[in-house]
Amino acid sequence: MSAIHLLRKLSRKPPSRLHRNLLSSTFSMDLPPDLARTTLIRPFSNHPAIFTNSHRLIPSCFRQSNLLPNLVSEKTKSIGLSSREFSTSVVETNTSDRVVGLSPNPLVIERIHKGEETIGESVSGGEIIGNEIKKSEETLVREESEAEKEAWRILEDAVVRYCGSPVGTVAANDPGDKLPLNYDQVFIRDFVPSALAFLLKGEGEIVRNFLLHTLQLQSWEKTVDCYSPGQGLMPASFKVRTVALDENTTEEVLDPDFGESAIGRVAPVDSGLWWIILLRAYGKLTGDFSLQERIDVQTGIKLIMNLCLADGFDMFPTLLVTDGSCMIDRRMGIHGHPLEIQSLFYSALRCSREMLSVNDSSSNLVRAISNRLSALSFHIREYYWVDIKKINEIYRYKTEEYSTDATNKFNIYPEQIPPWLMDWIPEQGGYLLGNLQPAHMDFRFFTLGNFWSVVSSLSTPKQNEAILNLIEAKWDDIIGNMPLKICYPALEYDDWRIITGSDPKNTPWSYHNSGSWPTLLWQFTLACMKMGRPELAEKALALAEKRLMADRWPEYYDTRSGKFIGKQSRLYQTWTVAGFLTSKLLLANPEMASKLFWEEDYELLDICVCGLSKSGRRKCSRVAAKTQILVR
Ligand code: GLC
Repeated sequence: MSAIHLLRKLSRKPPSRLHRNLLSSTFSMDLPPDLARTTLIRPFSNHPAIFTNSHRLIPSCFRQSNLLPNLVSEKTKSIGLSSREFSTSVVETNTSDRVVGLSPNPLVIERIHKGEETIGESVSGGEIIGNEIKKSEETLVREESEAEKEAWRILEDAVVRYCGSPVGTVAANDPGDKLPLNYDQVFIRDFVPSALAFLLKGEGEIVRNFLLHTLQLQSWEKTVDCYSPGQGLMPASFKVRTVALDENTTEEVLDPDFGESAIGRVAPVDSGLWWIILLRAYGKLTGDFSLQERIDVQTGIKLIMNLCLADGFDMFPTLLVTDGSCMIDRRMGIHGHPLEIQSLFYSALRCSREMLSVNDSSSNLVRAISNRLSALSFHIREYYWVDIKKINEIYRYKTEEYSTDATNKFNIYPEQIPPWLMDWIPEQGGYLLGNLQPAHMDFRFFTLGNFWSVVSSLSTPKQNEAILNLIEAKWDDIIGNMPLKICYPALEYDDWRIITGSDPKNTPWSYHNSGSWPTLLWQFTLACMKMGRPELAEKALALAEKRLMADRWPEYYDTRSGKFIGKQSRLYQTWTVAGFLTSKLLLANPEMASKLFWEEDYELLDICVCGLSKSGRRKCSRVAAKTQILVR
């Protein structure tokens, strides 16, 4: 896009309704003089909260960025663990290095230096969280491997700056790539593992900047051929562009892509959900809750939630989306109610319930969030779960049942059970279906959706265990030579032709069609740690570590066992690098990891708002459901 074109696009933007509302509200976000000056340009005029020219107060983000370097002395880094009630404490590690910790029981990571080089780190502290995570009282001394050192270098090189401040990481930095397409942009979903790696290392500034700048993009006037998608949508990605204002002056602008340039014009539904999840993670890992409490940030959460909870024609509590609206951002038969979106939706709902301040203006939304959480978890636990017993039930289903208490509610014909599944399903273990619609079950195993269900407690504790049992039993299929298959199995022959539209990039066992994506390691690690089985993650990580550096950090691998670097795979893919580092850091810091997952919420299990009493004409379908949602 030419600079003129871009500037025209920027100057066309009238203030949105949100903008007007925000203008009339009394809050202001104060930026330091430098940033405030450089950002007083069109793209941000949408969001007055950021673009007030007020320098009255030291802005909280800059207080934070000033604070973090204080936590990190030249020789020693300390990450204070905190909850909302943290108290600042001072931990003396030696007389010359004073380190500020933030919790009564801080986790201390000491970088061990030899000359200029970091050669390892020592971790101490931690406590038992629930029953599922082990205490790390002992001091570990861990030496950074060559792969880790290189990974940090690549991650630092991938950092994108805007007006001098770090705001994200590019998707890939492949020097040999002559046609980067949009891989030179900051993708919201791709940045999450980078953000976690930085946070776990004690660097919060880039994450804070990312969250605030993407918040500005949310209120952007977005159009696809003169149609405006809903307010609250977060872009799939953004790029920092330098545009000439006149002969002598240039300005940097952030240019978002809401799908209007994306291949296939796919809707980035997962972006807003990841944004909310990252916002909570930022608070949990830094102890800086002031960010989520800001009025503009609260408004951002509400806009995303309102968009997700808006009434439509849906019959189910699951979120109805078009194909390719998440990590798999191409046609792959994942329209309707795909699991990945549901698990992210569920955790975004839980995060929002935790972060929204309850007052007169938010109480209805908070109530709607709780009700949706409860209905969504029931629906997924009850109808998406498959194991050998359930497959046998489906195999014997009666069809064409017309009644409110039908067994085969979705009218699934037993012939739909794919032959591969009958042999594949292990005695122990199970998983959540890829998708469920009227008369259709997608029996493919989708990795991210299943892992994130474990992490967020969308699935029951027993189901969580069973999902990891399945991974163990099917190790060669899901992990093979390179963790982890994005889904299993591949669509082949007519399925590939009809469902992908003969997509040459998504041929069987490649890319989204059952390619292996090392970035998924961090979600796997979190799921394993939550379930007290870190050794599974360690095994997968060791496998990845053997190849990733030598293979130059590919985006994905191909073939049934993940043996070859993907045919069109980018090299030096940032989220491959960041996923690897985040897994390493999570395993080394179990207490930090425990801040990123959710335990069962028993309160949610009690909520039922349908109003149908057992004695009424009709029964509540939940009560009538045969299975116990807690124990299944
Ligand atoms: C591909 C992936 C998508 C990712 C993007 C940038 O399009 O499918 O999930 O965000 O590349 O890495």
